[in-house]
Amino acid sequence: MTVRHFLTLLDLSADELEALIRRAIELKRLLRAGHRYEPMKNKTLGMVFEKSSTRTRVSFETAMTHFGGHAIFLSPRDTQLGRGEPIEDSARVLSRMVDMIMVRTFEHEKLELFAAYSQVPVINALTDRFHPCQLLADVQTYVEHRGPIRGRTVAWIGDGNNMCHSYINAARQFGFTLRIACPEGFEPEARIVEAARAAGAEIQLLRDPLAAAEEADLVVTDVWASMGQEDEQRQRQAAFAPYQVDARVMAAAKEDALFMHCLPAHRGEEVAAEVIDGPQSVVWDEAENRLHAQKALIEHLAGVRPKA
Ligand code: CP
Ligand code: NVA
Repeated sequence: MTVRHFLTLLDLSADELEALIRRAIELKRLLRAGHRYEPMKNKTLGMVFEKSSTRTRVSFETAMTHFGGHAIFLSPRDTQLGRGEPIEDSARVLSRMVDMIMVRTFEHEKLELFAAYSQVPVINALTDRFHPCQLLADVQTYVEHRGPIRGRTVAWIGDGNNMCHSYINAARQFGFTLRIACPEGFEPEARIVEAARAAGAEIQLLRDPLAAAEEADLVVTDVWASMGQEDEQRQRQAAFAPYQVDARVMAAAKEDALFMHCLPAHRGEEVAAEVIDGPQSVVWDEAENRLHAQKALIEHLAGVRPKA
């Protein structure tokens, strides 16, 4: 049997993704009702982190605790990965011992190489190009607050980065319109946009954040300098200054529009404090949903979901 990986949102079908969101909502309800459910008993998740993390690490580790299994945190600083052991070898060895592996790294190609040599499912926990787990949580959060996201309009304001790329794939898979407003030189990769459009997605590239936000159902942003771009912080700050999501941007969106941010956030940079701490912001639900959505993902990739 071929191993199923989750490297981008395109690795699952639209139907599978919809089912996964429904299951995440159900798992959240069951957890709150005090149900004990341990489908990953005696199973281990390896967690390779080459970049920092708070939410991703804690949500995956907690997910495995809830599921009756175990998670191992692996950083390059104290594994042979950091001393140059080839990725192919690391993937072969780890996947002979653990049942699933989550990887957060820089180059997306590195993750693809790791997955190619792994005998067990590999999950993208963020690369320079994509952050698909975050999108599961974002879509779950939208659905919980406002119902189906299909046919809605989402405004992405800011950098054409890994989160923006995953929003492009999500627009394609979940069927919403995506308006992206970014400064010149910081657009998303053209081939990701083109592939989504070719598959029928409605993706609009704009310069004006107010135009992007107009009548939107959801407004989303992210940091101006992602992990690994710390040296560009100053230059980026100047380019992105007109792209702050503030009250004016939110006023252009629908009255009941939601605000999301994958976090960590910089108040006063990409988002005004009054927005992220205001009534339209659902960032804390969004962060919590990383746990529930990833539990649904683990269950799906491991094939351990009980038959209904
Ligand atoms: N949103 C997110 O992935 O957060 P962490 O970097 O803290 O994992
Ligand atoms: N774009 C950000 C997301 C962090 C969760 C980064 O890659 O640093």
